[in-house]
Amino acid sequence: MHASQNKYSCVGPGHPPSSQEGGLGGGRTGGFTSLSRGGYNMPWEEPEMTAQDPGKRITIALGSDHAGFPLKEQLKELLEAEGYHPRDFGTFSLEPVDYPDIAREVAEVVASGRFERGILICGTGIGMAITANKAPGIRAAACSEPYSARMARAHNNANMLCVGGRVVGPGLALDIAKAFLETEFEFGSRHERRVDKINAMDKKGT
Ligand code: RB5
Repeated sequence: MHASQNKYSCVGPGHPPSSQEGGLGGGRTGGFTSLSRGGYNMPWEEPEMTAQDPGKRITIALGSDHAGFPLKEQLKELLEAEGYHPRDFGTFSLEPVDYPDIAREVAEVVASGRFERGILICGTGIGMAITANKAPGIRAAACSEPYSARMARAHNNANMLCVGGRVVGPGLALDIAKAFLETEFEFGSRHERRVDKINAMDKKGT
């Protein structure tokens, strides 16, 4: 189904709170220094994913704060309808929470390799991106349209997408997310050399 045909094609009011359970455990108290400890390196795969189109088996960690919660619920449903299996790390209501806490938890599971991609939603996507990019190994891009999301993958090898729940509606968010999930990085190109320089900064801490 194309985004233009889905029931969320227009920007609309929030979705009712999800009944889905919380994240993967590990809490939100650990810092980025705990990436190699605890359970974050455990392999994960939903059993039903094995029969899916291989392209849809990508592991996706999804999170939001209260401002992004309505869009998170809508985008989760739309991605599931497309055959993806995002894992929801919360938040799970409109009760105010601090976006850095969610961003850190999702960034950790992506940086550890437990999840291949992360999608974070706050009011603007900006606070989530700023926080996620503090984690070594994370290249998070805040995007409001599909072209930037596609380029964030093709040229920057972004592994996290940040979206503003107060900026885009669910139909556009799905188009952005699909561009992010379905575009490959241009390995072997000049862009790989440039991303290598970013990654070297992570290793040196400068
Ligand atoms: C919450 O009000 C808002 O500041 C937050 O969701 C986000 O937009 C921050 O970047």
